[in-house]
Amino acid sequence: MILNVLLLGSGGREHAMAWSISKSELLGNLYVAPGNPGTAQVAQNVDLSLDDFDEIQSFIEVNDIDLTVVGPEKPLVEGIVDFLEERGHKVFGPSKAAARLEGSKKFANTFMKENMIPTADYAAFNQDEFDNALSYVRQKNEYPVVLKADGLAGGKGVFICETEEEVEKRLNQLQEDAKLSDAAETLVIEEFMEGEEASVFVLSDGESAKIIHNAQDHKRAKDGDTGLNTGGMGAYCPTPVLTEEQMHRVEKEIVLPTISAMVLDDQPYKGILYCGLMITEDGPKVVEYNCRFGDPECQAILPSLESDFLELIWATVEGNLYEKEIKLDNQYRCCVVLASGGYPKSYEKGKEITGIGEVGGEAIVFHAGTRQEDGKLLTDGGRVLNVVCGGDTLEDAIRNTYVEVKKISFDNMHCRSDIGVKGLAYFD
Ligand code: AMP
Ligand code: GLY
Repeated sequence: MILNVLLLGSGGREHAMAWSISKSELLGNLYVAPGNPGTAQVAQNVDLSLDDFDEIQSFIEVNDIDLTVVGPEKPLVEGIVDFLEERGHKVFGPSKAAARLEGSKKFANTFMKENMIPTADYAAFNQDEFDNALSYVRQKNEYPVVLKADGLAGGKGVFICETEEEVEKRLNQLQEDAKLSDAAETLVIEEFMEGEEASVFVLSDGESAKIIHNAQDHKRAKDGDTGLNTGGMGAYCPTPVLTEEQMHRVEKEIVLPTISAMVLDDQPYKGILYCGLMITEDGPKVVEYNCRFGDPECQAILPSLESDFLELIWATVEGNLYEKEIKLDNQYRCCVVLASGGYPKSYEKGKEITGIGEVGGEAIVFHAGTRQEDGKLLTDGGRVLNVVCGGDTLEDAIRNTYVEVKKISFDNMHCRSDIGVKGLAYFD
């Protein structure tokens, strides 16, 4: 069997996915829409808009695509899987109903409460109930407290408030935002969970589920987890934050109950389920679900995968994942994001990138915000490149990665110098 594949997306995650799929013996043609200069090294980029489902459908039909793989959350939450499946096409990713696990915090919290999946205590309020929201916070009188906009907000909809005054300020801000965006129409107030964060990635064909791997992201812009929240400045895998025993608990208390409850609710979850966790004194709890691979966790994890990624994806779509085994090598991997100075706020684009050619053979450079112009590689986004290296120990993986990072440069380049370091403390 040979499969022609269309992968949707254009970030570092999609370059890593295209790189991994391109190694498959099952692969015929691989297209990435819209892709980036990195995906162009392993696939053919096609200029399709991810908002235009009709255009994507025509491309699939004209180019005999057997399988469409969706990278980012937005088209999933907007129902691309339902749209293409209704038209007879095979797609890797959850349906619109199942993607609400990421698309609506209220939905996810209610789902977890109903199914006794460990998470924060919460209450949800509509836009016109913001006074009730404030009374709720006053009554609880426990700080910090977490305020979240219900819908997709690109990481900008979460506020951790230390005082009642701050809650009031953020409530007002969310009320203003609600006028601009549907995402903030409903508000969720959550108990603050204390602990260390980690992510677990799961493949599910709707009925059976297999854990791919775990990782730890670094969301803040600056060293020591300071600065603004970003999409992710680096990641490493596996993380010692999750011991073998913790992983058993995650599987038994979170992953399997989530997948079986989705079946019982008649909205089976197919695709990648990303469980963002807080490892608390009482054990692992869910901070959030995402309905796709993490970026940059994906860039660290896929180089560790020894199984054929496309074969796993196909088994997920065909419903026979239970027959497959997920094999990983025994390496740690570290991924450092090279960002444009200023990110996640405003930054300049169009800076020439040099030094990628000097990077050693064991390292992989996944592109994110880059573009090719007149034979030069230029910056074209906030997160520009991802440098990934392995090692027998976490320490080796980190050291090897930073040796390669130093070879690349562009004007105003910014990266964290401590990716993975918080994991090292667990080995003392
Ligand atoms: P989210 O968009 O829900 O992933 O939230 C973004 C970040 O806010 C998370 O990665 C956590 O660091 C933090 N966060 C969100 N909810 C909570 C919570 N209930 N307790 C503690 N930290 C939280
Ligand atoms: N690395 C965080 C995310 O993909 O949402």
